[in-house]
Amino acid sequence: MYPDRVLSGMRPTGRLHLGHYHGALKNWAKLQHEHPCFFFVADWHALTTHYEDPSVIENNVYEMVVDWIAAGVDPAQATLFIQSRVPQHAELTLFLSLITPISWLERVPTYKDMQENLADRDLATHGFMGYPVMQAADILIYRANLVPVGEDQSSHVEITREIARRFNHLFGREPGFEEKAKAAIKKLGSKKAKKYEEYRTAYQQQGDEAGLEAARELLNDTQNLAMGDRERLFGYLEGSGKMILPEPQALLTETPKLVGLDGRKMSKSYNNTIALRDDAETVSKKIRTMPTDPQRVRRTDPGDPEKCPVWPMHLVYSDQDTRDWVVSGCKSAGIGCLECKQPVIDAVNAELKPIQERAAPFEEDPTLVRNILADGCEKAQAIAEETMRDVRDAMGLAYS
Ligand code: TRP
Ligand code: SF4
Repeated sequence: MYPDRVLSGMRPTGRLHLGHYHGALKNWAKLQHEHPCFFFVADWHALTTHYEDPSVIENNVYEMVVDWIAAGVDPAQATLFIQSRVPQHAELTLFLSLITPISWLERVPTYKDMQENLADRDLATHGFMGYPVMQAADILIYRANLVPVGEDQSSHVEITREIARRFNHLFGREPGFEEKAKAAIKKLGSKKAKKYEEYRTAYQQQGDEAGLEAARELLNDTQNLAMGDRERLFGYLEGSGKMILPEPQALLTETPKLVGLDGRKMSKSYNNTIALRDDAETVSKKIRTMPTDPQRVRRTDPGDPEKCPVWPMHLVYSDQDTRDWVVSGCKSAGIGCLECKQPVIDAVNAELKPIQERAAPFEEDPTLVRNILADGCEKAQAIAEETMRDVRDAMGLAYS
C-alpha cells in the first residue's frame, strides 16, 4: 500500500571500522540499488547511553557519514540524514510512548544486556528504557517496509511491529469503519470485490497467509482507489481498522565472519579494530602485532590455525591456495607468523584503498557532506511530516 522503502540507522560513536563495513555498510551499498533507501545518523539514540559526554557524538556525526560514503553508500541513490534534524521523530516517539506498555520494554533483551555491559553508566533512565520506542518511531515515521539490521537489533524491529499493530488497532478505528470498508469494496468493481472477499475470508477464517498475500497484491494492482479507501481495505483484511502505520520486516544481515585483532568481536570498546581510514602503515603494524596461536612461541614451534585469530582473517580475505599454504605451513612450522600475516595485510589494504580514495574529497572539503545531509534532511522531513499529519488526525489532534 505504501511505497517500498528501506530504513536503517547507526549511532555516531566513533570512526567506523571493518566490522561496520562487513556487517552493515556493504549491505547498505547493495540495497541502495534494489530499493529506495533512507539511512540516518541516530544521534538521539547515542544520547540515550552517552548523555554525559555529548561531545563524542557531535564530533562523530559528519565523520561517520564520510565513512558511509567512502564505503560505497551513494548519496545520489540513498537519502542520508540526521535524526535530530527531523524533529517529527520526537513527536511520534511521544505518541508511541503513550501506548507502549512498560512490560514490553522490560522484556526487550538489549535492555538488561546493555545495562550490564555498560555498568559504568547510569542507565536507569526513562530515556534508556524507552529507546526501543524511539527506534519504532524512526522506522514507522517513514512507513519503511524493510529494516536491515544485525541479529542484535531484531527484537527492536519485533517491538516496532507490535507497537504499530497496537497503534492501528487503537487509532485506526474511525466511526463507521465497517460500513466505509464495505463501501470501498464495492468500488473495486464486482469481479475484484468478489476475489477480495474470498481472500479475506480465507485469511480470517482459515488463517490462510496466501490469501492475505493475494488480497494485498490485488489492492496493489488497483490504481484508481482513494488513499483513505486503500488504507481501509488493507486494514479490513486483518480486521483491525485503517492501517496508518504499516508493520516493517527486519532484513537480517548475516553476522560477519570478520573478527577483531584479538579474535573477539571487532568493537571499539575492545580496542581491536581496523578503521576504514587507517593508512597502510597502521594496518600493517596492527596486523603484524596481532597475537597468534599461543602454542607458537618460537618460529620452530608448530601451530594450529584454529587457535589463531589470524585464521578468521584468512577465511575472509584469502583464496583456497593461500589457505592451504597457511594450514600446512603453520602446522609444520614451515612458515613464520609474519610471513603468514602478509597476504592478509595486503588484502586489507587493497580493500581499504578505494574506500580511502572516495573519502579524500570529503576530508578536504567538509561542506560537501554538510550539503548532502541538508538535502537528505529536507527530503526526510517532508515524508515524516506527511505521516505525522495522518497520525495527528487519527489521534484527534488535527484542530483547524
Ligand atoms: N538501535 C540501532 C543500533 O544501536 C540504531 C538505530 C536507531 C536503528 N534507530 C534505528 C536501526 C532504526 C534501524 C532502524 O544499532
Ligand atoms: Fe597464526 Fe599463521 Fe602463525 Fe599459524 S602461522 S599461528 S595461522 S599467524
